[in-house]
Amino acid sequence: MMLLKYKKYIPLTLMLVVLFLSSCSRNPNSPGNEYAPQMYVSMPYEPYTQVKKNNINPNGMNLRKPPVGTVARKGHYNTTVQNEKGESGLMAYNFPSGPEGLEMAAKVKNPLLSQMPKDSAAIDKYVASEGQPLYERYCKHCHGAGGKGDGKVNEQYKGVANLTVGAQKTNSSGHIYHVITHGKGRMWPHKQIVSPEERWKIALYVHKLQGRLYEVALKNTVAPKKEGEKEEENKEGNTAKTAEKEPEVDKKEH
Ligand code: HEC
Repeated sequence: MMLLKYKKYIPLTLMLVVLFLSSCSRNPNSPGNEYAPQMYVSMPYEPYTQVKKNNINPNGMNLRKPPVGTVARKGHYNTTVQNEKGESGLMAYNFPSGPEGLEMAAKVKNPLLSQMPKDSAAIDKYVASEGQPLYERYCKHCHGAGGKGDGKVNEQYKGVANLTVGAQKTNSSGHIYHVITHGKGRMWPHKQIVSPEERWKIALYVHKLQGRLYEVALKNTVAPKKEGEKEEENKEGNTAKTAEKEPEVDKKEH
């Protein structure tokens, strides 16, 4: 018989099978016996990988406790922080480009508004002096003075969006900010030439072109202080609102 011919290999085969099975482990968290792990486990200590006990750091951990005063970054994508001058801004902006990032970014409020008085004349003045010149420098040649998509460049580079009609009319500051940052479709990114603060200012001017600056602004500005009302109460109210609106994006960012 054929099998008999290979009889002398049977012990060897059995040995190999036993060796193969010995690498398995009952513990689902254990990788079992690994062959030459130094080939795929980093020799230097990696902060986010823990294979063996670390004999240098406390608790045997590679990752050390953050220094005192480290700020937790939960919700950093839409958390506004205030400096000692009372100015507020986003802590970090790391929405990815593309439709998914745009959807998340559209929910972010314009941080410039949180410090603005509820006064249409003051808002108008601010937007005319801070937003309009920037729009005219960076956007007008394509989108036109009135935002109707009829700038000079549109004669050569077709498809410039009219920012005053249809869906464009209701784009939020966060949406406009994202489009300036990363571009969209045929519009190129402008993050290299327009600073973050300038983008928020331009967004306000686009709201004016949309014909809804006051509607947007007055909803988000600071209410005039009533007598005896404490500043703290107002701040707390604002924080609570941002926390509520936090989109669930933590998982997607990694
Ligand atoms: C080189 C020409 C050009 C310049 C400069 C330009 N855009 Fe655009 N923009 C476009 C084009 C083209 C589109 C249409 C994009 C598409 O849908 O393919 C567009 C679309 C948009 C949209 C609509 C995005 C959407 O959701 O559909 C906004 C908002 C916008 N631009 C704002 C701006 C602002 C603000 C500036 C100035 C910082 C600016 N653009 C500068 C060409 C330009």
